[in-house]
Amino acid sequence: MEKLIITGKTPLKGEVTISGAKNAAVAILPATLLINGVCTIENLPNISDVKLYCNILETLGAKIEWKSEHEITIDTRNITSNKAPLETTRKFRASYYLIGSLLGRCKAAQVGIPGGCNLGNRPIDQHIKGFESLGAVVEVENGNINAKAKKLVGNSIYMDVVSVGATINVILASVLAEGITTIDNAAKEPHIVDLANFLNTMGADIRGAGTDVIKIRGVKELKGNATYSIVPDQIEAGTFMCAAIATKGDIVIKNCITKHLESITAKIEELGGNVDANGDHLRVWYTKRPTKVNIKTLPYPGFPTDLQPQMGVVLSTAQGTSIINESIWESRFQYTAELNKMGAHITAQGKTAIFEGVDSLLGAPVTATDLRAGAALIIAGIAAKGQTEVYNLSHIDRGYENIEEKFRKLGAKIQRVDE
Ligand code: EPZ
Repeated sequence: MEKLIITGKTPLKGEVTISGAKNAAVAILPATLLINGVCTIENLPNISDVKLYCNILETLGAKIEWKSEHEITIDTRNITSNKAPLETTRKFRASYYLIGSLLGRCKAAQVGIPGGCNLGNRPIDQHIKGFESLGAVVEVENGNINAKAKKLVGNSIYMDVVSVGATINVILASVLAEGITTIDNAAKEPHIVDLANFLNTMGADIRGAGTDVIKIRGVKELKGNATYSIVPDQIEAGTFMCAAIATKGDIVIKNCITKHLESITAKIEELGGNVDANGDHLRVWYTKRPTKVNIKTLPYPGFPTDLQPQMGVVLSTAQGTSIINESIWESRFQYTAELNKMGAHITAQGKTAIFEGVDSLLGAPVTATDLRAGAALIIAGIAAKGQTEVYNLSHIDRGYENIEEKFRKLGAKIQRVDE
């Protein structure tokens, strides 16, 4: 096992280049199963969830050639299996996209129940409702989700809750279905738009991605024979925006889509930070102690839940008392107990946390409880006085490419060592 040793109080200064979006990559990779052909994917993030997905696709018969650490050519003409075992699918959440893509391609899928960050209850009832609306029979037994259909026929589906995963899974299952599928109350995240753009590049007919009504006109086949570049990671960019303010620094974030960062930009300016957005890059810099603000996480374009822990670090040393209301997940405040070990004064109760700002955090040994909490603890260690050790790095490596390298280039004193 490894850990990070961080020596703070270091203002982060300089430039960082954002990698391709994890949550787009883990949807686009399984989507290749729908293609009876070859395609090339560029700007893949070099993270463990991507490597895991490529291994899974190869066990299903895909042929993958790595052109570089960020680019693959993938041949999915010969899919030899529609089964993905539990011991693999339980390693991450996005494995459940194998259901929609294998159902779409093979009309049958047997996929182990997904794992993923422990954020509380993570049901998949809307995914199942979508598959059944298209004519599939879905059973959950012995830890597997079994879905099969004589044929898939387009239908209208109204999502009871705005769900990124369910919206993506219904798109995957309906691309090769007969007729038109309409998803109402669809999620609008940038990674959903990226998936739709990828599939349309490969021959699909999807309109309205990025709005709350998405229409998919089923096509006979996806030919592929095209190249697609993954969208820059909105959450990684937002992570560095929070880091600039929490460490009293000045960071230029390159290769990002500033439109995707409007809610974080607004919140950082509201608390007294400075943001200069300019096309595909933006500069974030600290000039004075942040003032208290309240945050409510919401589906896109609201404030993203995946930036809630990182913003929590900023609020832990802000002037006054701030409140975060986490409306998406039942249990996404586990990181606050770790920040309290570093001298923060945070009271978390259910979906609400109260941050009484302190002057400074103090280094301490802390443990990452999920991917974004891990990133938040790294930021806290860089901002804190003294030495911090961050454990459970496997969570962080799932979603951030070379994270300590990127922070080190900004001036952080950070080392990865064996425990
Ligand atoms: C995706 O998870 C992301 N993961 C999460 O990011 C992110 O926090 C979440 O979307 C919200 O943006 C990936 O993209 C791999 P949801 P997902 O379905 O799809 C409820 C990260 O850090 N719901 O949008 O699992 C659910 O309980 C990860 O990168 C149902 O009730 O999230 C939640 O309250 C962590 N029934 C809400 O909807 C369902 O069938 C939103 O969940 C599905 C979801």
